[in-house]
Amino acid sequence: MPSRHLIAIYPGSFDPLTNGHLDLISRGCRLVDRLIVAILDNTQKQALFSVAERIDMLRETTANLANVEVDSFHGLLVDYAARREANAILRGIRAISDYETELQMALVNRRMRPETETIFLMAREEYSFISSRMIKEIITLDGDVSSFVPQPVAGRLRTKFPADSKIK
Ligand code: PNS
Repeated sequence: MPSRHLIAIYPGSFDPLTNGHLDLISRGCRLVDRLIVAILDNTQKQALFSVAERIDMLRETTANLANVEVDSFHGLLVDYAARREANAILRGIRAISDYETELQMALVNRRMRPETETIFLMAREEYSFISSRMIKEIITLDGDVSSFVPQPVAGRLRTKFPADSKIK
């Protein structure tokens, strides 16, 4: 068998990046030659952080991982995968509720570009209940999210939501 250079894309909104995402990145990058963490630049969706801010936070938190690159994309994921010559898409599954959407995405992506396989990693139990949506809700209600997100993200959230601006 000829040896292959394995390039995987870990796509997502990362709005904001959570400890669960970071765990998946650190476990995923050990399985491949290069892992491209790709932020979807979605103009249709109101985001908490700009793409530039999300890139900064991801770069800061993955600086110790030599084979990890942070980028953004718009349009179809499979087209981006083709441009980046990626042979895999990495996604995480936290609970059975993630399975249906992830299966649908993987099948659609496979139909459009069969040469790109989707690889799933199961979230670690301690991160299986964390979601970006919940982090956003907690922070707007003055809750403490420091145990759910990497430290640079917690810092930026505190700046964006100073205590007196939060909904009481
Ligand atoms: O972090 P998320 O919001 O669960 O990530 C979803 C994402 C970005 C992976 C997905 O929405 C996506 O790939 N969007 C790009 C558009 C696309 O390719 N759509 C067809 C397959 S779903």
